[in-house]
Amino acid sequence: MKLWYSPASPFVRKCLIVAHERDLTDRIEIMDANANVVDPDMRIVQSNPAGKIPTMVLDDGQVLFDSRVICAWLDTLHDGKKLMPRSGSKRFEVMTLEALGDAIMDAAVSNRYETALRPPEYQWKAWSDGQMGKVKASLDQLEKQWIRSLGRNPNMGSIAVAAALGYLDFRYPDLNWRRGRPKLTRWFKRFGERPSFMETEPK
Ligand code: BEZ
Repeated sequence: MKLWYSPASPFVRKCLIVAHERDLTDRIEIMDANANVVDPDMRIVQSNPAGKIPTMVLDDGQVLFDSRVICAWLDTLHDGKKLMPRSGSKRFEVMTLEALGDAIMDAAVSNRYETALRPPEYQWKAWSDGQMGKVKASLDQLEKQWIRSLGRNPNMGSIAVAAALGYLDFRYPDLNWRRGRPKLTRWFKRFGERPSFMETEPK
């Protein structure tokens, strides 16, 4: 299977962490994308009309996107403990945690496009502040009510959150997201020691 990839994308990293955690990396061929919002990579558009990464193309030609779908697919390919619980309230708890991690990535990546790519005369500070407000509110909720769900053993939700926090460190080193969030800081420090996280670090 092929995975359209950009080293900076936290959504790609999320998929790769899942692949590392369940020993699937040898089965994935990495395809370097020319990811650009205004000039999409037409090789990806052929498979995914939105031209977004990650996009996965399976060996029989079936196309999967977005990261949630790709991660769910990867979770079917191994015999180990499933990263997404199969049923019960725990399943919906982990799904919601994954959505929260993805929401942080969505807002942080959107704001990165706004501030790094949009010409300065078109930038809208209130919109930017709104995106970063979503990031901060999500981090606060993680600190207050999600530490137990993040847990010690990775699940699909904790992997999404780790990818999101890794992206904040990569693109927003001055945000100081750890300040006032000691529990999340401790949890992330431990997650950061996992080979799956270290080996997928954006260069
Ligand atoms: C980035 O450069 O921050 C980025 C690149 C591709 C996807 C998402 C983010």
